[in-house]
Amino acid sequence: MTRPKSFVSIAGLSREDILRLIAMAAEAEREPNRTVLQGRIVATLFFEPSTRTRLSFETAANRLGAKVIGFSDPKVTSSTKGETLNDTIRMVSNYADVIVMRHYLEGAALYASEIADKPVINAGDGAHQHPTQTMLDLYSIHKTQGRLDDLDICLVGDLKYGRTVHSLIQAMRHFRPRFHFVAPRELAMPEVYKQQLRGWGIPFEEHTELDAAAIGQADILYMTRVQRERFQDLAEYEKVKNLYVLRAQMLGAARPNMKILHPLPRVNEIAYDVDDTPFAYYFKQAENGLYMREAIICDVLGESL
Ligand code: CP
Repeated sequence: MTRPKSFVSIAGLSREDILRLIAMAAEAEREPNRTVLQGRIVATLFFEPSTRTRLSFETAANRLGAKVIGFSDPKVTSSTKGETLNDTIRMVSNYADVIVMRHYLEGAALYASEIADKPVINAGDGAHQHPTQTMLDLYSIHKTQGRLDDLDICLVGDLKYGRTVHSLIQAMRHFRPRFHFVAPRELAMPEVYKQQLRGWGIPFEEHTELDAAAIGQADILYMTRVQRERFQDLAEYEKVKNLYVLRAQMLGAARPNMKILHPLPRVNEIAYDVDDTPFAYYFKQAENGLYMREAIICDVLGESL
């Protein structure tokens, strides 16, 4: 049987795939309300909490004329009675035309895509990947910088557990980036990703301080939350949770084109006074998620925008 086109990982996307999805998202932004998915059903299965990803997917489906089914809390599903993910996916495949799933297990979306006879979109699998977040990040970078090529990208915070930064470095490999990693030793970028970067010939530097030097050399300053939910030992979390707090007074050396991204939610890592600076872009970034998710749903269903 031919597998449907799913969207589970950023790794398989080419430069052309990425630029095509960015062009589709721009078209969705030009006219977000369409009827291209009238008569279709989009299922949103969220086994982990979410605000932006679930609501933007559901908004995207509604704006494209589809109907939405699903759950935001697995406690109200038969998984609490012992139903396996395999059986849940088989069932939902009977009801919906596309499945959007967030799950706490790494690889869960890939597994679901091998079972379902409908497209599966990965809305985050454990600490592994969050590819639709990456696509909206790329759309945001392209919109604000006018290009993806030859940029300095500074990733700050939890580079160990942050699935968004893992996906972002994989996607950016097509665009000759220079990476600057700012993280404490405990939350450093895992060796497996650094090995990949070396293999691709992409330069990166590692820092432990978020200072004027780090901020001043960035086109994109990508802040992340320390992922409390991934720590086995909460005492370890307490040690690192507030190491980096970006404040407006720290932005004096920033390049004029620099934009601050954050996948959100933020906890303490960006002070509220940054919101009023011309560098803050994280709320617009979240809005961009709507347009990119319209593009991705259409793409897996073979619809054009
Ligand atoms: N960025 C992101 O994934 O946010 P949510 O967890 O609220 O979906």
